[in-house]
Formats: sequence, structure tokens, C-alpha cells
Amino acid sequence: MAVYQHDVVVVGAGLAGMRATLAAIQKGADVAMITKVHPVRSHSNAAQGGINAALTSRGDDWEEHAFETVKGSDYLGDQDAIEVMCQEAGPAIIEMEHMGVIFNRDEEGRLGTRRFGGQQRARTFFVADITGQAMLHVLYEQIVKARARVYEEWFVTSLVMEDGAVRGVAALEMLTGQLHLIKGKAVILCTGGTGRIYEPSTNGLIVTADGQSLAYHVGAPLMDMEMVQYHPTTLKGNGILMTEAARGEGAYLINKDGDRFMKTYAPNMMELASRDVVSRSEQTEINEGRGVDDCVFLDLRHLGRELIETKLSYINEVALDFANVNLAEKPVPIRPGNHYEMGGIKTDVNGRTSVRGLYAAGECACVSVHGGNRLGANSLLDTIIFGRRAGEAAAGDAQEVGESELTESALSPEREAIKKLMDRAPTSDTPAKIRLEMGRVMNEGVAVFRDEAGMQRALRTIVELKERYSRLAVHDKGQVFNTNLIFALEVGFMLDTAEAICLGAIARKESRGAHFRTDFPKRDDEGFMKHTMVTMGPRGPEISYTPVTVTKWKPQVRSY
Ligand code: FUM
Repeated sequence: MAVYQHDVVVVGAGLAGMRATLAAIQKGADVAMITKVHPVRSHSNAAQGGINAALTSRGDDWEEHAFETVKGSDYLGDQDAIEVMCQEAGPAIIEMEHMGVIFNRDEEGRLGTRRFGGQQRARTFFVADITGQAMLHVLYEQIVKARARVYEEWFVTSLVMEDGAVRGVAALEMLTGQLHLIKGKAVILCTGGTGRIYEPSTNGLIVTADGQSLAYHVGAPLMDMEMVQYHPTTLKGNGILMTEAARGEGAYLINKDGDRFMKTYAPNMMELASRDVVSRSEQTEINEGRGVDDCVFLDLRHLGRELIETKLSYINEVALDFANVNLAEKPVPIRPGNHYEMGGIKTDVNGRTSVRGLYAAGECACVSVHGGNRLGANSLLDTIIFGRRAGEAAAGDAQEVGESELTESALSPEREAIKKLMDRAPTSDTPAKIRLEMGRVMNEGVAVFRDEAGMQRALRTIVELKERYSRLAVHDKGQVFNTNLIFALEVGFMLDTAEAICLGAIARKESRGAHFRTDFPKRDDEGFMKHTMVTMGPRGPEISYTPVTVTKWKPQVRSY
């Protein structure tokens, strides 16, 4: 066991984590970036379609982007934060391009754009259908160039407090099984979303709500967790993402009769209505018998082989490998699937949480710029804007913090907890069984359409699973790369967060954005234009509310 000391500790090495790390280094801080996987295996790698920005030089306007983001959020996004994100988007894209991201170009050689859902204008910059991968690799080059200290394949099990502030983390070195103390004057959580609480999901298996649960356990509120996005086009069976860029390039959604059904639900925007609207439309088609095997179809045939093979080659490969469909020849079966968590650890626009010393950015945070429904291609933007801001704020604040007196004894409670888990005699129960049951029940009860009975059923199951989890044993008793132990710890994180999702969803007795209740089908601005906060109290989770910030866009009826 060892004790390490840094100014800023960043947990997670996706786009938000790397951008935060770089910003903090550029501010002169000594930074540690801790990641449970090699940085370029982070889930940002899976982002496909692009990143939004309104460039004035292209005749676009950040205020239009901001308004469409507010409307997309179903008026739950905080408008001051949305203004910050949309104003800073243009320079951030140019900065990424200068770092080396090879964005697609148009016929005139300028940065090319495609149109994404919920927006009137093409303002999504992209690298074919591998935008996240391209950005992640470029940022990693910058991390290497900046000689950042990377603790790779280390797993953070808890936050360590001193005098009411977060001053470090307990981290398991996966190679040796040793638990270490990594002290930091500021800790930034950039651990990504909650995707694998659901089965299936477009998210990588590593997306297990780690940061949300770590923050929740030290008293940071989780905000708007009920706002879980179902992406309209996920592949039949396994739920792999088929990018919205396909529809941005002109693909159709059709039902079993070959009918472009979006004309019924969103006659103006059709396939490019906001995601919540498109997912509900698809689910309605399926529920009313106009689907096939619980799916409808994404039809790209009219786009032609050349466009598919140049701009959408990744999803073409996925469709071939997993569904035996060549997109140029046949429509591919798709359905709405879990994709993104709009809620998260409540932060301000500089990543500060309500707990001293603790910051968050990226999908694990809720600034809140996505509100009830995120626009496609605003998530990559969120990571680089608020990652940078959190890194700068944490590095600045760290200069005011004195030396911590924490020693390795601060790890005793964590070491005890892990020992207890490891010493327990194996039963027939496993982390995988609990995880699968959680995923299924969440996907049944807290999905595209929700009602009281289904959500209560999901909550009851989660509470029962938490009980089973308290008796769970780790079957592999080894030290070296004990993935069985990591898997068990991850399931614990997910169960905490799943409970917060269910509680927030049950308490919000209206329909807004991705939260559509068949028993309360209308938006209720009087009663619920407010953020849900779930905080861990002495007797368990507690719910409270906080107002939404409105600057200039009053709520209107939302149609596409
Ligand atoms: O469809 C997509 O390419 C996903 C993009 C996003 O979630 O922002």
C-alpha cells in the first residue's frame, strides 16, 4: 500500500476526464488521472455521430443552438448553463481541430456539418461515424505530450474526506490487488454515465455509475436522475448504437408496411425530431402492432453505397456483423434503447458540487444543460466545455488548499469493507445475476413509457437486489486482476444509482422529455418545472427540489 499526493485528482479518462486533466495541467497543477481502463478504451470512444457548435463564420448563431437545446430539454435545462455551453462551442471545436481532430470537410474544403435531431440547421461537426474515437485519441496524445501522471487500470472504490472536504480517493491497483490512498486537494469525477444499469444499452460494459455513487455517498445530491434517454436507433437484440447521423444524412424510419410513420408524430421534423419524441413514436408503432419482433426499421438504401461506405462505414460494419444486413441493400431492424443519463451529480458551470473539494464533469455530472432530453451531439460538447471548466476551477481552488494530514489509516474503513466482501463464503448468487436482473427490471419499468405500477415494481426489485447484494460474496479470492471483485463493486454503485432513478421517476408526477408517464401524460409546469434532487440521508435516500434557471426562453408547447 502507498500514499500518493497530487494537487488535482481526476477520476475517469474519457473526453471529460482528459479535457479536465489537460486544463488543470495548463493551469500549473500537478494532476493525477485515474482510470479503470486504458484511456482510449473509455466509453467516449463509442460516440459516433458528431459534436454540435454554431459557428458564426458559417452563418449560424449560438442563441439558436441554445434555444433548440432548451426546447429539446423540455424546459428543464438551466438556461444560464446552456448559454455558456453554446457560446463556448465554436472556439472549442476549432481548438479540437487545431489539436489534430480530422473533422470531415465539405466540397469547398471547409469543416463539414450534418444535421442532427431537434435542430433546424446542420451544425454537427463529425469524423465519419467515429467522432468520439477520433477526439479521444487526439486528446490522449495531448495527455501524453503534457506528461500527465496516469494511474491506468486502477479502480476508485471511495472518496476520502478530511474536515468535511474531499481530499483524495481510495484506489485499487487492479494488477496487484493493493489498495492505495491518492490524495488530492481537489477531486474531479469524470466517470461517465449509468448505461449498464439497463439491459440492453448502447453503453460499454464499463459504464457502471461509479462517480454518481461515490459522490452520493459523501452527500452530493444527484439531480434529475429520472431523465434517462432512450436512443431511437439501437440494433435489434444487442442494443448497439446505430448513429443518428444516419437520419442526419437522410435515412428513413419505416414500419412493417414500409410507411414513414414519423409523419404522424412529427410532421415538420420527421426522423429528425428530438430523441424522446422519435423513441416514443417507434414504441407506439411497435405496441400497436406495426413493428416486427419488437422493432421498426432504419432504411438507408436510397442514400447509396458510396455515402454509406464513406460517412457511415462503422455502422454498416456493425449491421453486417451483428444483423447480417448490408445497409445499402436492406433496412435494418432497430428499436429504442438505453443510451444516456441526462441527470447526474449536481454541479455549477465550473464543475463544483455542493461538497468542498469535489467536482464533476461529463455524463456523470448534471450542470444542467440537457434537462429532460439531450439533443444528439450535445454530449461530446458537454464533455469538452465542462471538462475544461472543471479542470481550470479545480486547479485554481487547489492553490488555496493547505497540505492534507491524511495517512494510510484513512483507508481502514475501505480495507475492512473489501475484506468483508472477499471473506464471505460463496453462495449461488453472483454479481452477474444481480446485474442482469437489475438491467431487465429497469428496462421494463423505467423505460420509454412509464407508469406508477411499473416503476414501483422496479423500485421493489432494486431494494430486494440491494438486500441480496449485502450478502453477496466474491467467488475469486485472488489478488491479481480480480475482475470478479471489480464487477461486484460496480454492481453496488449501480444499485445505489438505480434506486435514485426510480425514486425520482416515481416522484415526478408529470410527463417531460424522456420521462413519459402514461398515468400523467401532460407536462405540468406549475407543479414540476423544477429539478429533482436525491440525497443520501441518515435513513436512506431523500428527495427535494430546486428551481430551474430561466433566462430568456419561457416554456412553450413543444412540437416538432
Ligand atoms: O447517434 C449518435 O451518434 C449519438 C450521438 C449522441 O448521443 O450524442
